[in-house]
Amino acid sequence: MAENQPEAPGGAQLPGSEQSAGAVAPQGEPVLRLLGISKAFGAVQALKDVDFEVYAGEVVGLVGDNGAGKSTLIKTISGVNIPDSGEILLDGRRVSINGPADATALGIETVYQDLALCDNLDVVSNLFLGREDSAGPLPFGRIMREVEMERRTVQVLKQLDVKIPSVRVPVASLSGGQRQSIAVAKTILRNARLVLLDEPTAALGVAQTRQVLNLIRRLRDQGLAVVVISHNLADVFEVVDRVIVMRLGRRAATFDIHATTAEQVVAAITGAEFGEEPEVNGATPGATLAS
Ligand SMILES: Nc1ncnc2c1ncn2[C@@H]1O[C@H](COP(=O)(O)OP(=O)(O)O)[C@@H](O)[C@H]1O
Ligand SMILES: [Mg+2]
Repeated sequence: MAENQPEAPGGAQLPGSEQSAGAVAPQGEPVLRLLGISKAFGAVQALKDVDFEVYAGEVVGLVGDNGAGKSTLIKTISGVNIPDSGEILLDGRRVSINGPADATALGIETVYQDLALCDNLDVVSNLFLGREDSAGPLPFGRIMREVEMERRTVQVLKQLDVKIPSVRVPVASLSGGQRQSIAVAKTILRNARLVLLDEPTAALGVAQTRQVLNLIRRLRDQGLAVVVISHNLADVFEVVDRVIVMRLGRRAATFDIHATTAEQVVAAITGAEFGEEPEVNGATPGATLAS
């Protein structure tokens, strides 16, 4: 296993310290970089010395078996979990994220599976929930505020190419894909630069999944950094640029999506290539498999 990775000069990630296939990260400074993040829950070591990076205009797929540490990693970035050790860098500068409000202030937004939408409220109200103060002291305050919020809602949905019958319908009446899109639009309204999505297509049918994958592409094309947790490798191969595989709390592998196969990713997820037999078949040159 890629245990005890030696530290690279300048804190950079050492290529070859993990399983990889053509995994060349984009050049420059990532929007977000994690260095040596560890997190234990009692006796469970959920994250072990994890490095992670995501760049602007990039979609990173975060995959791994149940319990691999994916959600814990996302929650570390979004301020829900405080790591036991390690560093978080934003644009190369060290930051501390001690709660969700810190993450939001840094432009980090997370869409969890439950979406946290209010079913009985309409789209506009959902998008501005908790931010109703933002319109300032206008004359005829309330009405002006409603008009402005509706205008912004239409604008952001257009920007994301999200189609819904009306911004004044309760979100309960929308499809799963549309609801997911509303949750993502909310992150845009908060000026996110990094959007984290935990299993965004898990509950969706084919057409709705397509809608959400399109939305993810839109986020990337607008220069955001996007991290998507997914169990669905077809989705992963369709939408991500790089795949980072977590296994047993460690970053086990990184793949450039254009230079890898589903078999390689599955092998990294299951740890097949780390088996006792030393018959790694050359599919992953340069991998360091110290036991
Ligand atoms: N709040 C928590 N309390 C105790 N154990 C937790 C908690 N959150 C996660 N874990 C444990 O940490 C490990 C990683 O979990 P998680 O990050 O949810 O994995 P994944 O999202 O990859 O399925 C699992 O063993 C899980 O049971
Ligand atoms: Mg999870």
